[in-house]
Amino acid sequence: MRRLIAGERRRLRADGRTNGYNGEVEMKILVVHGPNLNLLGKRERSIYGEKTLEEINSLLREKGRLLGVEVVTFQSNHEGALVDFIQEQAGSARGIIINPGALTHYGYSLVDALVDSKLPVIEVHLSNIYAREEWRAKSVIAPVAKGQISGLGWRGYLAALEALAGELRGE
Ligand code: DQA
Repeated sequence: MRRLIAGERRRLRADGRTNGYNGEVEMKILVVHGPNLNLLGKRERSIYGEKTLEEINSLLREKGRLLGVEVVTFQSNHEGALVDFIQEQAGSARGIIINPGALTHYGYSLVDALVDSKLPVIEVHLSNIYAREEWRAKSVIAPVAKGQISGLGWRGYLAALEALAGELRGE
């Protein structure tokens, strides 16, 4: 099936014939989680929320299906493994959503990998990094990201996916 262009999609949506998804996977978006995010659901729940990483990933995959996006998720506690994943996947993906965990504040090889991917990046934080300890308020990722969502909990990932998919489609 041919891909719909943005104008056609808008017209169909206005007609109520589609919610923006024409039944095929149009693009792959990577969702990358950094150190300690494997502990979500157990870790500082009053700050990071009650959902586990797998629950968040599964919500993302579900939303991806509605949007025609293949969501490929990856978590590691090791900066080099995150770099390897980005290098391996960048060629076949259209964008990256990343919560770099504490690497947000000092992960320069991660910054380089994101730049080298040449993909649009949205940085997501469950907590509001500007309302916590001073050292968390600096992100080395933000200057190379298209945008940042901080403090909206798990909903921030879904908002990032919707924004990135819409943007990539030119909507
Ligand atoms: C975090 C904020 C970081 O400062 C912290 O190190 C994390 C999680 C967040 O999602 O709020 O691991 O990125």
